[in-house]
Amino acid sequence: MTIVKNASLKQFNTFGIEAKAQSYCNITSIAQLTETLKTYQHSPLFILGGGSNMLLTKDIEALVLHINIKGIETVNESQDKITIKAMAGENWHNFVLWCLKHNYGGVENLSLIPGNIGTAPIQNIGAYGVELKDVFVSCEAIHIIDQTLRTFTKSECKFDYRESIFKQNLKNQYIITSVNLELTKRNHLLQMDYGVIKNELEAKGITKPSIQSISDAIIAIRKSKLPDPKEIGNSGSFFKNPIITAKAFEALEQNFAEIPSYKITEDAIKIPAGWLIEKAGFKGKRFNNYGVHNKQALVLVNYGDASGKAIFELAMLIQKTVKRLFNITIETEVNII
Ligand code: EPU
Repeated sequence: MTIVKNASLKQFNTFGIEAKAQSYCNITSIAQLTETLKTYQHSPLFILGGGSNMLLTKDIEALVLHINIKGIETVNESQDKITIKAMAGENWHNFVLWCLKHNYGGVENLSLIPGNIGTAPIQNIGAYGVELKDVFVSCEAIHIIDQTLRTFTKSECKFDYRESIFKQNLKNQYIITSVNLELTKRNHLLQMDYGVIKNELEAKGITKPSIQSISDAIIAIRKSKLPDPKEIGNSGSFFKNPIITAKAFEALEQNFAEIPSYKITEDAIKIPAGWLIEKAGFKGKRFNNYGVHNKQALVLVNYGDASGKAIFELAMLIQKTVKRLFNITIETEVNII
């Protein structure tokens, strides 16, 4: 195993922030991961996946284990369904493209989400009416301290909106090594509830959509409002959409009749944080080499060599302003390091 001292993490985080790791190790197999954990269990460790959901505000005084374990295999299949095991280091979108090539349905709405397979369950990635939990069967994870490999079923993962047990009770205790997903081989269940998907398909004159045409539509929609991390550093939605009570919503509606909302239950209303941030005046605001994206206010961007600290301070200013104007606390979706 090669350990690199004082390694730059710039190319390993989609925000493109320059930060150094005290030491860095590229992990390409479970055996190597177990071995490294045994050797370094008493040293501070930092687990890095696709680097698409974090903001580095400082150097990492730890050994960074970069999980790059690859592989995709069939676990079992029937005429209608197939269970696929994908290793943690596979890129999420490449996996979606692989599924489309084989005509396996279920993940097409999750096209173009940055990040890796292994980190997808941690925040239960989701977009356009589908969440990872909808296709998730189980995952394997290795315990950092005793190196035992454990299987977590879907219910054990305690998935919720951008949440799982790996962000809560078991935070920093396990490293996910692979994920099993159940996909359809025929009679695909197309999820087209989002108006924008219908509009996009209509504009292209598609009347009988396939999983491929849904994926193409999602890619077009995402490209039209979300910046490509290869061009402009970002971590997707910086904040979660807040969920407020019906009473709080009624009070807000008095002042802001046009406020968009999605009813989750009778007493839980989700408000798009992008709207709150736009209303607070931050959409498209640029401060030197960082700012708020001009097409989606939920996305903070690094135009050049911005520091993670500066972006974090902007996020805190946005959070404070939204709280002052709407009395709503928006929580970060991105992990602040
Ligand atoms: N809106 C504004 N101004 C903005 C942005 C949004 O007013 O600048 C309002 C509009 O009313 C719009 C509504 O917010 O109709 C919803 O916007 P959008 O469809 O872009 O979705 P979102 O709620 O902002 C969520 C996810 C995205 C995901 C989309 C589509 C979260 C935190 N974000 O965004 O996920 O792609 O839905 O399903 O739930 C991510 O997690 O990184 C991510 C990009």
